[in-house]
Amino acid sequence: MTSQEVRAQFLDFFKGKKHKIVPSAPMVIKDDPTLMFTNAGMNQFKEFFLGNSVPKSKRVSDTQKCLRVSGKHNDLEEVGKDTYHHTMFEMLGNWSFGDYFKKEAIQWAWELLTEVYGIDKKSLYVSVFEGSDDGDNLEMDIEAYDLWKAIVPEDRIIMGNKKDNFWEMGDQGPCGPCSEIHVDIRSKEEKAKISGASLVNQDHPQVVEIWNLVFMQYNRKANGKLENLPEKHVDTGMGFERLCMVLQGVKSNYDTDVFTPLIREIEAITGHKYGKNKEMDIAIRVVADHVRAVAFSIADGQLPSNTGAGYVIRRILRRAIRYGFTFLDTNKPFIYRLVKVLSHTMGKAFPELREQYQLIENVIKEEENSFLGTLEQGLVLLDSVIKSSKDKTIDGKKAFELYDTFGFPIDLTSLILEERGYKLDAEGFEKALKAQKDRSRAASEVSKDDWTVLIEDAVQEFVGYDSLEADVKLVKYRKIQSKKEGEQFQLVFNLTPFYAEGGGQVGDKGYLEAPNGDVFYIVDTKRENNETVHFCQSLPKNTFQTFKATVDKKQRSRTESNHTATHLLHQALREILGTHVEQKGSAVHSKYLRFDFSHFSKVTPEKLRAVENFVNARIEGQLPFEENRNIPLKEAMEQGAMALFGEKYGDTVRTVKFGRSIELCGGTHVKNTADIWHFKIVSEGAVAAGIRRIEAITSDAVKEFYHKNNRMLFEIKDLMNNPQDPVKAVTSLQEENALLKKQMEQLLKDKAKGLKRELISELEEIDGVQFLSKKVDLDAAGIKDMAFEIGGQFSNLFLLLAAENDGKALLSCYISKEIVAEKSLNAGTIVRELGKYIQGGGGGQPFFATAGGKNPEGIQDALNKAKEYIS
Ligand code: ALA
Repeated sequence: MTSQEVRAQFLDFFKGKKHKIVPSAPMVIKDDPTLMFTNAGMNQFKEFFLGNSVPKSKRVSDTQKCLRVSGKHNDLEEVGKDTYHHTMFEMLGNWSFGDYFKKEAIQWAWELLTEVYGIDKKSLYVSVFEGSDDGDNLEMDIEAYDLWKAIVPEDRIIMGNKKDNFWEMGDQGPCGPCSEIHVDIRSKEEKAKISGASLVNQDHPQVVEIWNLVFMQYNRKANGKLENLPEKHVDTGMGFERLCMVLQGVKSNYDTDVFTPLIREIEAITGHKYGKNKEMDIAIRVVADHVRAVAFSIADGQLPSNTGAGYVIRRILRRAIRYGFTFLDTNKPFIYRLVKVLSHTMGKAFPELREQYQLIENVIKEEENSFLGTLEQGLVLLDSVIKSSKDKTIDGKKAFELYDTFGFPIDLTSLILEERGYKLDAEGFEKALKAQKDRSRAASEVSKDDWTVLIEDAVQEFVGYDSLEADVKLVKYRKIQSKKEGEQFQLVFNLTPFYAEGGGQVGDKGYLEAPNGDVFYIVDTKRENNETVHFCQSLPKNTFQTFKATVDKKQRSRTESNHTATHLLHQALREILGTHVEQKGSAVHSKYLRFDFSHFSKVTPEKLRAVENFVNARIEGQLPFEENRNIPLKEAMEQGAMALFGEKYGDTVRTVKFGRSIELCGGTHVKNTADIWHFKIVSEGAVAAGIRRIEAITSDAVKEFYHKNNRMLFEIKDLMNNPQDPVKAVTSLQEENALLKKQMEQLLKDKAKGLKRELISELEEIDGVQFLSKKVDLDAAGIKDMAFEIGGQFSNLFLLLAAENDGKALLSCYISKEIVAEKSLNAGTIVRELGKYIQGGGGGQPFFATAGGKNPEGIQDALNKAKEYIS
């Protein structure tokens, strides 16, 4: 059975059980501060479990792109070393939101595995939560045990501890006991030797968990306590790649058709066969796994970068590059060449791969190029560290420096040291690493109290499209503490005119006014899950009163101006550069806007001007704002609305239209493009391979820009005695300047020629040596040129030239090479000795050396002394 069929059968099965099949949510999460990447199928449904939102369907099923590389669920370091862990994997799941519970979940899982997929019942084991007597004091899951007992013999039911059989999404959030299903794919002989039951959860590569059925009943609070959820839910997750392994009768996920096309390509590129050498096999698995994680992230709009999610992606890719470099002899980019294969094998289920394959390839290639450069540079540095080591041990601090400043991986350092018979001071390295981690953790740590809820079950409403003021009631609040911002309060209201940061647009600022006139400033507004959270420096004493919430109008209207301009810019770029242009990120602030888009070369000044003109024409065209707040996604797409990759859209969406620009957008906009006043591009450049960035300004910022330029122009005119035509005046000034420069150079040349003649005429022959010591009016470079010029004409020259510049003394000594040898002279030694007269020091080569000092008074003595060296 192909992997495509495995996926399709799963979804069909649950469709048959009245589940709605939904698309995978993006893998990169944008609106949940507790999570960077989707790490389980249930993430996108978290709010349904908590009872904060109501699902349209109570039964849902999908295949979800997951990434487990950070936080509570992190498998990164395992990947490659074994045959069944992955960074990115697909999780097949079925969910019940307050609908069916343990009985159906268990029966259907069994039915699908054994009857539809036909897995031998005797190779399956199930586990049940045994209870815990720690702080949570949870009871054994007897209900699940009894349900399983009706299906499988009791010796196949394994009691599991809290680590394995109580599933939690993260440090906070929904959780509950779970039943795992494990499969034993060992040979008959092996099975006869050791029972499968004893190998469950023992990291055996052929006795692995394939499906986890979680019975969601609790919410883990910030204070660590469990609270009952309003309803009971089912959350299941089956490892797609492992299921394929079982159904395709192979012993490793990497031997399924999910991975073999990638592995064949790696073999073809590197010339190394998979399955021949342990270390190379690990490297091949690392590369095959990581390219998926990176490609899917880029398709979701997350490029490798130096911070946050982008940094995690960069690290994953670098891990793959490093394994290739060390074990597969790849010193040229090659991982990008796998993207094509990936888009062939997975593009049907995940069209975003196919559509963005060119961009993904480019970004990966560029990252590979730059990191391979770093690796080479690191090797040179490591070499010099090794050479300077005296006791065959490399200082941990130095290794850390290489790692921290140059990104040179520590395991590579160890490996190279080992090969050369050196040792790494690993303890010192760990110490330096920990110190740095502590520093950055302390800087970014935010501690949050639990919410204090004032109004239960409140439904929040956003009124900020229509109004900038509202009377609001506090629904809940909590205190947060961070190193950067200090103590702050997060407030959630029953309704709010404040726009929460999202879709690139910054969050609103403003204030709250209590009935007694007290004012509380709101410094930022962000979205957390589905809620609008207001950040406030202090908490009103009386939290139950009604407040007047007012948005900072000026900031909002400038931001709106930039947001609408961003849409027009997007349209302009697609019209002028072509429809390959896709939005790759945007930041809409009150002072400026930033727009990242896919395009493969620099945008020429002419094209930029055309883009500016296009946008300004639409501003002059006074296009009205037309929105549709609730239109089915399908209909919006048919109208030509622009949607973004990696964004999560509901069944119904909001469209924003200005003339022929129509986008799916939740942001706020001007009522008419005329309000933007004017649009001006201030910069264009590259952010990554194939991604350009335009920064631009509108409205007041353009006025300020022109005022500033105008002021400068006036100042220039003033400086130039108010010419009629300042451009002409500056041009003639430049011409005059160029002429003067030319004349000056000629004069200097003439002067040098004269000086050279003069110096030569003053040479004195002593003992077969042409000798002169003299103070001249030249700078250091001039002296050097002069010495070499004269030196070129004599083979028996001894020249000591001195100068005084800016109160400092300079001595330069030139000795013809023949004289150096014949008379055993050394200009370096001489300037060092004479340097004491000018209170300084210096050095150089035997035939030319220079000394500098702070005592020009001593120059004459030094010059007088010179003769002694040859006579
Ligand atoms: N949420 C459960 C898991 O990820 C199904 O294992």
